[in-house]
Amino acid sequence: MTSAEIRQKFLEFFEKRGHAIIPSASLVPENDPTTLFTGSGMQPLVPYLLGTPHPLGKRVANSQKSFRAEDIDEIGDNRHTTFFEMLGNWSFGDYWKQEQLPWFFEFLTDEIGLKPENLYVTVFGGDLETKIPQDDESIKIWEELFNEKKIEAKYVALGSEKEGSEKGMQGGRIFSYDVKKNWWSRAGTPLKMPTGEPGGPDSEVFYDFGSADERGVPRHDEKFGKECHPNCDCGRFLEIGNSVFMEYRKKEDGTFEKLKQRNVDFGGGLERITAAENKDPDIFNISALRGAIDEIQSLFGVTYPKEAKAMRIIADHIRAAVFLINDGVQPGNKERGYLLRRLIRKSVFEVRQHSQSKFNSSVGVLMFRIAQRYLSEYAEFYKDLPEKESVIKDTIVAEAEQFLTTLDSGLKVLERYLIENGKHEITGEQAFILFTTYGFPLELTMERAKVDVDGFKKKFQKHQNLSRTSSTGTFKGGLADHSEKTTRLHTAHHLLLKALQTVLGPEVKQRGSNITSERLRMDFSYGAKMTDGQKKETERIVNEKIAEDLPVIRSEIAKDEAEKLGAEHEFGQKYPDRVSVYSIGPKSATQENPQFEKAFSIEFCGGPHVTHTGQIGKFRISKEEAVGAGVRRIKGVVE
Ligand code: ALA
Repeated sequence: MTSAEIRQKFLEFFEKRGHAIIPSASLVPENDPTTLFTGSGMQPLVPYLLGTPHPLGKRVANSQKSFRAEDIDEIGDNRHTTFFEMLGNWSFGDYWKQEQLPWFFEFLTDEIGLKPENLYVTVFGGDLETKIPQDDESIKIWEELFNEKKIEAKYVALGSEKEGSEKGMQGGRIFSYDVKKNWWSRAGTPLKMPTGEPGGPDSEVFYDFGSADERGVPRHDEKFGKECHPNCDCGRFLEIGNSVFMEYRKKEDGTFEKLKQRNVDFGGGLERITAAENKDPDIFNISALRGAIDEIQSLFGVTYPKEAKAMRIIADHIRAAVFLINDGVQPGNKERGYLLRRLIRKSVFEVRQHSQSKFNSSVGVLMFRIAQRYLSEYAEFYKDLPEKESVIKDTIVAEAEQFLTTLDSGLKVLERYLIENGKHEITGEQAFILFTTYGFPLELTMERAKVDVDGFKKKFQKHQNLSRTSSTGTFKGGLADHSEKTTRLHTAHHLLLKALQTVLGPEVKQRGSNITSERLRMDFSYGAKMTDGQKKETERIVNEKIAEDLPVIRSEIAKDEAEKLGAEHEFGQKYPDRVSVYSIGPKSATQENPQFEKAFSIEFCGGPHVTHTGQIGKFRISKEEAVGAGVRRIKGVVE
């Protein structure tokens, strides 16, 4: 089966079971300042898990485009991709384990024909710290499901991944693991979750390629641990679906309470399920990806799987680039643009390293030929793709060609470093500059000189932590980082909202925001373009409040009280019963006596902020534009 067929079967299967089929959200999250990319099906649906009624009811299903920047350095093995499609079905306070597990099992076995004996499952083994018990209910359901298929299903408690590799399978079919493996939230384990965040135990299904007799799959490799077990990385088992029982929420004091409703968040990698159906552990052999692999083979004279790693990188990165450009991303030096740039450059670099044909400036056009495979592969389901063909082409061609020029200047800098250093060695810092400024992958520098790789890695790690805002940034009050500049912009953001309401009218509401260390961005509801006069007046008010050097005070109060005070909160957001609010002014306000009624601005917010507005500096509006019907976008900087 092709992935398109499996996608369709999945959606039909759940449609028959009362689910409304919803389209994939954009890879660029809308109205979510907290994350760079949509990395799971859950992200765009958080409000409904927290209780906002979904307009299409309590059951929905989808195939969500997802991009995980954090996996970019893993690409090259047989099962990781940066971009993937996540099949999802959702119960917003409706059905529960007794429906979910049998449905998914039925889908896998009866609908697409996986042999049940090749399926192994894991469940949550309980957690002493949070006192959340082992998921006995799921163990029982799984036992019955396998028994119905005449398969004995022994339960084995494993605990951590390490314990798994020590204890091994022990003839088991159902295994329990700890919070690191069988708990899901956007932030990871319970400890890492911020207050208010939802999460819950999950149950994963693994496909066993080791016992799939049709293909020669390597048996367990001890490099990955003494014994094999479902969560072992040796390649025998592939996780193909995860049912999250999202019923908890973290409280202020670190303990957990039940959400108002019990939700199911199921996510299954479409490419991986297809690989299982194909009984081939290499997901790059599924038709959706294989077309690109074949194209790379014929364009550059490389062979698969001999040069699998490089070819997988190119096939993965170009596909991700196609979908990112389709969702409006353009190459740049920061955030999403930087990731896209890296994807295209790394692909060109791999081509340059491995191509048997002459490497020349038409490489951009050749890269686009790979992209075209995806355009035709996905055109039917992603109906907006074909109309973006020319922007996808222009972007890939231009970036690839530009990289060639950059490579030349990078080489010159490299030569200069070598002369300066007086030896054939490059420091970690220099390798890092080559990497970030000249787009020079480390491998390329290493080809030409000895490199302090540890030094480079340290720099790189630091950089990655900053650019990896996708999940971590989520939980720092929506900021990309906590640099001083970002914090100043954050406080300016509060002043700006109030100033906009003063100038344009109190009905102006925030509809989204995003803050980096360079600028702030706010989407707000308003029907017309702002006049120059209105922009000037808005700026003037913000700067006046900065000049007054007003105190910025954080208080924790009951949600009702905050609402009564008219504290601003973002449309569609759900908040806990006690909330953190930031008030700005009046001059005489103190922590003990925040004088809310006289404050200039009050917002529901987790911070961080400067302590006095005088620290912000001078504020300037840099742009104002439309982003949709009745929604404007404003950008501003502090100088
Ligand atoms: N949200 C769950 C995941 O991404 C299904 O694994």
